[in-house]
Amino acid sequence: MYYFRKDLQSKKPVNIDVPNKSIKMGLNESSLDPFKIVKDEFLTKMKTVHINRYFNDITKTLLRQLAEYANVPPECLVCGNGADEMLYYIFNSVRNDNNSFAVSLAPSYFDYKSYSGAVGLGIKFLSLNSDFDFSVDEYLELCDDENCKLAILCNPNNPTGNLLNENKIIETIEKSKQLVLIDETYFEFSGKTFSDKIFEYPNLIIIRSFSKSFSAAGLRFGYIISHPDNIKELEKVMTIFHMNLMTQTMISTMLEKKEIFLEHNKKIIENKKDVFKQLSAIEGIHVHPSATNFLTFTAGDDTENLFNFLANNEIAIRAVWHHPVLANHVRVTISNTTHNSAFIKHVKRFMEER
Ligand SMILES: Cc1ncc(COP(=O)(O)O)c(C=O)c1O
Repeated sequence: MYYFRKDLQSKKPVNIDVPNKSIKMGLNESSLDPFKIVKDEFLTKMKTVHINRYFNDITKTLLRQLAEYANVPPECLVCGNGADEMLYYIFNSVRNDNNSFAVSLAPSYFDYKSYSGAVGLGIKFLSLNSDFDFSVDEYLELCDDENCKLAILCNPNNPTGNLLNENKIIETIEKSKQLVLIDETYFEFSGKTFSDKIFEYPNLIIIRSFSKSFSAAGLRFGYIISHPDNIKELEKVMTIFHMNLMTQTMISTMLEKKEIFLEHNKKIIENKKDVFKQLSAIEGIHVHPSATNFLTFTAGDDTENLFNFLANNEIAIRAVWHHPVLANHVRVTISNTTHNSAFIKHVKRFMEER
C-alpha cells in the first residue's frame, strides 16, 4: 500500500552530494560565523523576545529593517526559512493542476527540480549555450503554454556564476504571460538587482537569501520581493508562524550590524579575484568569470580525479558536471585566505603530478 501522492513514488530522495570535509568549499557558505560577531547584542535582544508566545514586536521591526535594506516598502516583502523555503512556497502557490509546470534554464540551481517536484509542479528546461547565454525566443516559446505557471531565471546563475543578459531578462518579463521569478541569492556579490522594477512589472517575483552574503546558511533566512498583491497571494500558502522568533531576532541584530557582513563580502570579492588569477595560471585549468562567491572551473578529463584528490586532502568542492554544458566542471566556494591557499596549493600539486 502506498499512502502518498502518486507522483512522489518515482521521485528520488533529496540528497546533498558534497563530501563532508574539514575545509568546506562546496556549498557556497561563508567561513564567517555571525554568532561570534553579534552574540552579546543578540542575547540582550532575546531578553525582550518571549518564545512562549507566538507574537512579538520583533517581527515588525525585522520587516522594517529588511525593507530599508532592500529599498522597497515593507508590504512588498515576505520572509521565511531560506530562499529554498521561498521557492517551495512560490511553486506551491502557482501549481494549478497536474499539468502545471515551470520553466528554467539549465544548468541552474539544482533544487528547482527538487522543490517543484515536491509540490507536483512539472519543470521544463532550456539549455544554456556554451557561453552560458540563452535565446529569449526559445525560452519564451517554452513558456508559451497555458500550463506554464512560472518562468525562472537565476541571476547570477548557479552553477555557471554569470549574470544573464539584462535586456533578455527584461524582454522575458515583458513578454511572459506568467510570473517570472528572478533568483537573486547571490545579489550582494553581483550588485545587480531587479527590485526597482516590481511596480513596473506585476508579474515579477524576486527571491534573496541570507545564507551567502550574510554568512547565515545554518540560520535559514530568505525573503521574497514582489508587488504587494503578489505577496498577499503567496502568504496564503504559508503556515502562519513559519518563522521562529529566535531567527528573527538574530537576523534583526545582524541587520543592525550589516556593515560588518557587507564589508566581509568585499573581502570575498577580492579573494575571488585572487583565486581566479592563481587558478587560471595553472596549466590545464580553465576558470569561468563569476559574479558570485564561487568559481566554476575545469581540469578537462582530470576533473573527477582532481575532485577526489581534494576530498582525500580534506577539501570539499562541488561536482557540477552532470549537465553537458558543464561536462568535467567543478565549483569551488571562495573562502578565507587560509582555505583558498590550501585549495590552490592542492590543485597545483595535483596538476603537476598527474
Ligand atoms: C541559486 C540559489 N537559490 C537558492 C538557494 C537556497 O538558499 P537558502 O540557503 O537561502 O535556502 C541557493 C543555495 O545555494 C542557491 O544557490
